[in-house]
Amino acid sequence: MMRTLIDRLEREGVLSREEFVALIDGRTPELAQYLFERAREVRHRHYCKDVYIRGLIEFTNYCKNNCLYCGIRCGNQNAQRYRLSKEEILDCCREGWELGYRTFVLQGGEDPWYTPARIEDLVRAIKAQHPECALTLSVGEHPREVYQRWHDAGADRYLLRHETADAAHYASLHPKNLTLENRMRCLRDLKDIGYQVGCGFMVGAPGQTTDCIAKDLLFLHEFQPQMVGIGPFIPHCDTPLRDAPQGSLELTLYLLGIIRLMLPQVLLPATTALGTIHPEGREQGILAGANVCMPNLSPVAVRKKYTLYNNKISTGEEAAQSRDALAKRIASIGYRVVVSRGDHITRI
Ligand code: 5AD
Repeated sequence: MMRTLIDRLEREGVLSREEFVALIDGRTPELAQYLFERAREVRHRHYCKDVYIRGLIEFTNYCKNNCLYCGIRCGNQNAQRYRLSKEEILDCCREGWELGYRTFVLQGGEDPWYTPARIEDLVRAIKAQHPECALTLSVGEHPREVYQRWHDAGADRYLLRHETADAAHYASLHPKNLTLENRMRCLRDLKDIGYQVGCGFMVGAPGQTTDCIAKDLLFLHEFQPQMVGIGPFIPHCDTPLRDAPQGSLELTLYLLGIIRLMLPQVLLPATTALGTIHPEGREQGILAGANVCMPNLSPVAVRKKYTLYNNKISTGEEAAQSRDALAKRIASIGYRVVVSRGDHITRI
């Protein structure tokens, strides 16, 4: 019965809301294994055993927003704020290039010092230094004109998680000035402008019901993003949600499998949060259908300060510098890290 749902999801790319709820609430270890087998087959058809890597540069942890779950919310007085200079960012990229990275992700809080003009300048400088690399921005909500300006300057992709497709749930996780409506407006503008767009959500965010997740999946089907980032919610001690339970590895993996079947060609990262809650979380993510890893390229001195949640991994094999260690781990599960922007494949 449940396997029939999985087979239909693979054929049609979507189920009804009720069917999604049944598929999620009715999961068993056996059903999950079946799902992962199907997800891997679909993934191998499109991406073989290749794993794409993105060099993540967390360039500022200043943020004007006060999202209830996030460790860099403006209300967190304990956060040690930092902001990388243009030169420091270009150095990160230069180092990343040497290590085989061909996509850089500039991620930061919504930092008013980093005006649209300054970000445009960064985009131009990075693209001038590395014309063969893809550049991904992840700097939050902005007017359409600003997104257009950065795209004109050469930005290729944009990550903006929708966080939850349920408006009431969205309101419970965010301050009043942030709305699901504006988040969706941003995502549609980005896609319209021509960015490759990534959305996504936290698994096990406080207040999330199976029905919320079913809505998230229906939204993914409707929006057809090029990338989807999901990871477990992990409480941060200096936020109002400090006592909420962590999201589960098992449900995150199950949803990765479902998303691979729904969007066969999607770029799906095994996220840092997944690697944080289990030492083999990211390997398990790849075996569930993920095909992207995003190691940290930020300077070691600031890494610990970009704490969205507690115990965020940032050293050892998380570090982009441990490129060989990462390649070995990926190889140990039968996959290979490739030097590529994300579509053209060169083996290393
Ligand atoms: N746990 C897990 N993920 C988090 N994010 C923010 N705070 C947390 C947390 N406590 C995620 C959000 C955001 C992305 C950059 O990090 O989904 O979009």
